[in-house]
Amino acid sequence: MSLQLRCLYTHRYSLALVMTMLLLAAASGDSDTAMNIKAVLGHSVTFRCPSNHSEAVERLYIQKIINDKEKFINGFYKDRDMPWNEYQIRTKVNKMDLSMEMRNVSVSDEGLYKCYIFDIGVTNPKVSDIILEVTAEYSAPTITPDCTEHRRGVSGTGMSCDLSCSAVGGYPQSTIRWTGLNPSLTNVIYNWSSAHNDSKTWTINQTITYNCDQQTNVSCAIGGAVSHTITICKTQSFPLKVIAAIAFVLVFALLLIFVVVMKCFCGRQHTPEDQSGDVNVSLTEYRSQLKSV
Ligand SMILES: *[C@@H]1O[C@H](CO)[C@@H](O)[C@H](O)[C@H]1NC(C)=O
Ligand SMILES: *[C@@H]1O[C@H](CO)[C@@H](O)[C@H](O)[C@H]1NC(C)=O
Ligand SMILES: *[C@@H]1O[C@H](CO)[C@@H](O)[C@H](O)[C@H]1NC(C)=O
Ligand SMILES: *[C@@H]1O[C@H](CO)[C@@H](O)[C@H](O)[C@H]1NC(C)=O
Ligand SMILES: *[C@@H]1O[C@H](CO)[C@@H](O)[C@H](O)[C@H]1NC(C)=O
Ligand SMILES: *[C@@H]1O[C@H](CO)[C@@H](O)[C@H](O)[C@H]1NC(C)=O
Repeated sequence: MSLQLRCLYTHRYSLALVMTMLLLAAASGDSDTAMNIKAVLGHSVTFRCPSNHSEAVERLYIQKIINDKEKFINGFYKDRDMPWNEYQIRTKVNKMDLSMEMRNVSVSDEGLYKCYIFDIGVTNPKVSDIILEVTAEYSAPTITPDCTEHRRGVSGTGMSCDLSCSAVGGYPQSTIRWTGLNPSLTNVIYNWSSAHNDSKTWTINQTITYNCDQQTNVSCAIGGAVSHTITICKTQSFPLKVIAAIAFVLVFALLLIFVVVMKCFCGRQHTPEDQSGDVNVSLTEYRSQLKSV
């Protein structure tokens, strides 16, 4: 009985598995219609129009959707290339693998492209969507501290630091991450970001305040770009005042010793030489007396 039940369950599970796989296949079939490609700002990217290569292709158009209208980018008809526009210098169509290379990609190249393939003797083209995404790495962020000492009740003094982090030339807009800081002691006081008019890349700047009473190593990052690490709230083994006081006491003590030594030395100089000879004599006398005893 238990074997039968197990068989039934296995059957059900495998059925469920098949159903899931069918659903997944359907989902991936859907996403296949829009192909996502990525390009790095200033670099090249290749748009590949999906094709079976079983039919001879007569025409190929690659168009971009701009403000809900299609704009012709590049393509070919029979043996003729058809780049008639500003894209001519940056794009090149490869008839063999039905692809288009685009050089020096800019942020404004981002968007939805459509690829039309007309087989010989066929009026309805095969249409496929290609979505281009552009990224640009931010410059290594610069981190600048501005620390002041502050009193915190009776527990003593700590530091309050304004930390600024900024980076330029990145895309898309991103957020600044701090490492090495306790989030509960961190306060964002200033956020600023702006896109460059022409390149559309972002400049990002953030300032936070951080309260600390022990040495802390901190760095900031935007995307994959990381600043160098700086050390804030450097613990001084003694406050400056204490060091000054100790130095003062030391100098005073040294002076005192010096004065005492000088006094002794001078006093000795005043005593006549023969007196010390007397001492020696008396000492030898004493010794001889001791021996005789
Ligand atoms: C490739 O051929 C198959 C079967 O003929 C068809 O279903 C499919 O849509 C074709 N794919 C493309 C990209 O033309
Ligand atoms: C790349 O494009 C930018 C504008 O988007 C232009 O300023 C730059 O000169 C181009 N670089 C090359 C190598 O063509
Ligand atoms: C600054 O931006 C960060 C994330 O981008 C956000 O969490 C924070 O609330 C912002 N702070 C201010 C003061 O705008
Ligand atoms: C940037 O663009 C805005 C609006 O398009 C314009 O008002 C502004 O003057 C431009 N700034 C620069 C520096 O070109
Ligand atoms: C970032 O913001 C701080 C605080 O306003 C400012 O001092 C600094 O110059 C800014 N840096 C950049 C690169 O904009
Ligand atoms: C901070 O970095 C320095 C070296 O750069 C290291 O000696 C020190 O141990 C670090 N301190 C902490 C708290 O990580």
